[in-house]
Amino acid sequence: MTGNDSRLLTPTAPFYRAVGGEADIFRAAARRGSPVLLKGPTGCGKTRFVEAMAHELGRELITVAGHEDMTSADLVGRFLLKGGETVWVDGPLTRAVRTGAVCYLDEIVEARQDTTVVIHPLADHRRELPIDRLGATLPAAPGFQLVVSYNPGYQSILKNLKESTRQRFVAITLDFPPADIETEVLIHEAGIDPSVAASLVAVGNAIRGLDRSALNEVASTRMLILAGGLVAEGLELRHAIQSAVVEVLSDDPDVIRGLGELVDALLPRR
Ligand SMILES: Nc1ncnc2c1ncn2[C@@H]1O[C@H](COP(=O)(O)OP(=O)(O)OP(=O)(O)O)[C@@H](O)[C@H]1O
Ligand SMILES: [Mg+2]
Repeated sequence: MTGNDSRLLTPTAPFYRAVGGEADIFRAAARRGSPVLLKGPTGCGKTRFVEAMAHELGRELITVAGHEDMTSADLVGRFLLKGGETVWVDGPLTRAVRTGAVCYLDEIVEARQDTTVVIHPLADHRRELPIDRLGATLPAAPGFQLVVSYNPGYQSILKNLKESTRQRFVAITLDFPPADIETEVLIHEAGIDPSVAASLVAVGNAIRGLDRSALNEVASTRMLILAGGLVAEGLELRHAIQSAVVEVLSDDPDVIRGLGELVDALLPRR
């Protein structure tokens, strides 16, 4: 089944604070119908950005999570047996093509390359989706916009986008927001005081500045929001950081101790 997609037409504008020219690039690409490739580490705001842009453009957002077992039928659709009859059921990509929605393929590199090639005719001047099983080619409705994302940090030789796929996209690189914007995001998302938000951002940036060899990932905006949420629920800031940041980033006792010392040095003395 094609059950791993979600559809969204948000009534209120999702909160997104632009960091650079990303919204302008997206708008220009959308006007041209050009597909967008979003690059950036986990928890930096890629999904939120797409939600905000789809809302601004007044388009439905259909999100599909990429995974290694994903087949082109998961995207395009398949015949299913229903009450003794064989009926065609559109996949999420086909629905987006028919309705002129924004189709967001999250973590596209997880999918096999022979799956991703189905987007090629949609991602260039043709803007059409050949559906072999139906013997039909569907032109994309006005408004259809393809957006894919991936985290270059997880990139491996095996998991990479085919050159012929990536060259069809306009790339937008997102990263963790600068301190003033990230503080604003934390205040808004976690419902915490500016001083607590500023402390969390300072911790996040210190961790991001560390030698990366001991850590798989650094502290993301998402993590800092989680920590802030614990503070909003009454937890002490140091404990919140321990649970939502330090213990999440590593299982190695030495690394955990080192991160703890870094946090202690940064937090204001009480
Ligand atoms: N510039 C921003 N404006 C508003 N909120 C932001 C911004 N950047 C990050 N966020 C917040 O960070 C959270 C995590 O962002 P999001 O889920 O979009 O990350 P992501 O890049 O899609 O991560 P993943 O790769 O793991 O899917 C969001 O829920 C949002 O609250
Ligand atoms: Mg996401």
